[in-house]
Amino acid sequence: MKIFYEKNVSKLNLKKLIEKEKVIIIKKFFKKEKIFSNLQKIKKKIKKMKFLKVSGPNYYLKKNYNRLDIGDYSQVNARFSRMIALFEWNKYEAFEDELKKLVIFRDKHLGLNKEKFIYIYNKKRLYNLQKVLHYPSGGGFMNKHTDGYNNDGFPNFLVCITKKGKNYFDGGAYYEIGKKEIDVEEILDPGDIYFHSTNTLHGVRSIDYKKKLELENLNKGRWAINLSLEEIKNEKKYL
Ligand SMILES: [Fe+2]
Repeated sequence: MKIFYEKNVSKLNLKKLIEKEKVIIIKKFFKKEKIFSNLQKIKKKIKKMKFLKVSGPNYYLKKNYNRLDIGDYSQVNARFSRMIALFEWNKYEAFEDELKKLVIFRDKHLGLNKEKFIYIYNKKRLYNLQKVLHYPSGGGFMNKHTDGYNNDGFPNFLVCITKKGKNYFDGGAYYEIGKKEIDVEEILDPGDIYFHSTNTLHGVRSIDYKKKLELENLNKGRWAINLSLEEIKNEKKYL
């Protein structure tokens, strides 16, 4: 694991470094105050969004959605979490500056180029799946897993939005590097970004599992942004 500030990474080969270090954190990549105001914005917006249990396949020009995942029925990894998909072809509900900066940063460092939201790589069509993740207080979690089963090995990029010890108290994201578990929340602050190699084990331990689960008002807990590259599988819907 290696920790940087943005000014120190411009000349680094992050692609190589991720494989070596497994986890990279860049402190203060975004302004904390803007992260908090965007969180309030998205919390308001999602009150008006339908609550889906199943969202179906993603495709070019799909609308944003708000999905609650409980169990291991449709995703690869068992979880209790909420996902708000914010596709870049839609009007931004929140985090516009942050998501745009993050995509530019990742594309520059990984040598990626898109045209009209689509990346062509290994004869596949990939798109950015930009999502706000919410692990609710009262037990939100994600099983230990590795990424990269559907995206040609491009690492996911994450943004820390909430702080352990302030917004929630128990649980949080961890990495397993060489059989050693690292509670990454001890290092992360809102506005930091972090990413890991696709073969690095990680998960989210249950968030405040002893606290009451407020199903009618899922607001508290751990929030993060996750940017991943996904393959467009439904060719018919791609124009
Ligand atoms: Fe993951």
